Amino acid sequence: MRFPGYVLELGSLTLWAGLVAASLWHNLALLDVQGREVAFARARMLFSILETTRLWNAYHGGVYAPVTEKSPPNEWLVDPQRDVVINGRAYTKINPAYMTRQVSELMGSQGGLSFRLTSLKPIRPGNAPDPWEEQALQNFERGEKEVLDRVEMGGTDSFRYLGRLLVEDACLQCHANQGYHVGEVRGGISVTIDAVQVLAEINPQKQQTIVLHAFGYLLLAGATLAFLTWLRAGWRQLAQAKTEQEAMVAARTAELRRAVDDLARSNAELETFAYAASHDLQEPLRMIGSYAQLVDKRYGPTLDADGREFLGYMTDGAQRMKRMIDDLLTYSRVSRGEPALQPTELDVVLDAALANLTAALTESGGQIIRPARLPVVLGEAPMLVRLLQNLLGNALKYRAADRAPRVTIEVVAQEGRWLVSVADNGIGIPQAAHERVFHIFQRLHSHASVPGTGVGLAIAKKIVERHGGRLWVEDNHPHGAVFRFTLADAGSGDVSMPQQQSR
Ligand code: HEC
Repeated sequence: MRFPGYVLELGSLTLWAGLVAASLWHNLALLDVQGREVAFARARMLFSILETTRLWNAYHGGVYAPVTEKSPPNEWLVDPQRDVVINGRAYTKINPAYMTRQVSELMGSQGGLSFRLTSLKPIRPGNAPDPWEEQALQNFERGEKEVLDRVEMGGTDSFRYLGRLLVEDACLQCHANQGYHVGEVRGGISVTIDAVQVLAEINPQKQQTIVLHAFGYLLLAGATLAFLTWLRAGWRQLAQAKTEQEAMVAARTAELRRAVDDLARSNAELETFAYAASHDLQEPLRMIGSYAQLVDKRYGPTLDADGREFLGYMTDGAQRMKRMIDDLLTYSRVSRGEPALQPTELDVVLDAALANLTAALTESGGQIIRPARLPVVLGEAPMLVRLLQNLLGNALKYRAADRAPRVTIEVVAQEGRWLVSVADNGIGIPQAAHERVFHIFQRLHSHASVPGTGVGLAIAKKIVERHGGRLWVEDNHPHGAVFRFTLADAGSGDVSMPQQQSR
């Protein structure tokens, strides 16, 4: 599996960019809201101071101030005592509206802040509202207490505030004739704040936010890239290790394969040699046998007792050697070539084996106990006949002196194969020899006590292995031995055909 290309880097950088941008946008918006709050807080504060000083003025029914160029008598104030002279100095009454106007002019537009008095029913036309103020004043009529807004005003981005002025007793001294009552809205103070100036105050904060976000993004991106690089390196290392390991395994496998092939070849050569050698030995042996017989026939009478005995040994030896060579040839034949496996009825096989053993059975008085029905296995009939014949023959041959041989054949299904057991009540096989009995020419008993070449079990084992099975021996309690082997079922095809089964 390959590590995904650079989409991970690209993807995470984009994702972080998106997240950081969203956060930045959100924070800047919050700062704007904060700026707006600041602007309105200032407007409210200004309004409240103005309202209070106006009230102070109204409580006095207007306040006298010396007449100056900047402070002439208010043409809109109708009051017989508007202008007075004290000690030769002229004074004029300043009503709250006039005072407010003068303060407003004095203040100008300091810090981007300006204000004015307005009303829907102005005594002084100059106090008439502009369209925004008119709208706001109408809102007061509907019960609102203040109006906040951000508008484009004379080409500048502005915050606008309008606070309402209610009629109090003190106001009625001058405004009663207009028909006002206490608690009614008389008008309002309109405050305008230059948005650009106020928002400029939070610019450092905005810059800081931007820098922080940029820094955060770089940090995140850096960390992500570092992490992905680390991950990638680890992955590469892992992949490399895997490749190396695979190469190593492949090399080992090839080595092993070679060794197995070599072994198979040398084994095959050895078997061919054994076959050829034993085959070629037959002829000279036959010669020895025939000439020994000839000597016996022709010169037997002239020989003395010793001579005849020696000749007897010779004939016996030749016969034994012939049997051994025959067995060896059989062993070689079993080892050579592939068995032609096909469904084979084990019942038929057993019948054939027993037929071959008729003499041994009669002679030993043995009894064979077999199941009612044996399975159909995958095998080569002649080989299987020899297998059963060898095992049963052994069971009859190595019988105990004090009891008649009794051989029990059993078959059970095991892990998809057939497990066949041939159990006897004979002399048994010592635990230590359980392996050795299967070796060729290995005999546990002297030739004199029990005749045989010691090839039978080796052949049996070879046959089972050529069929992809396994043959072994166990103790049969209380007496005797039990040989067990496995065979594939005819239907399963569960046979792994070994070139050279080594076990
Ligand atoms: C001493 C007299 C006097 C008193 C007291 C007084 N006013 Fe006025 N007011 C005036 C006059 C005169 C004007 C006319 C315009 C101007 O002077 O600018 C006016 C103007 C106004 C205006 C501006 C709109 C317009 O009609 O031009 C408002 C709003 C206002 N007064 C509210 C009040 C309130 C609220 C009170 C009580 C707290 C109050 N006044 C007390 C004399 C008075």
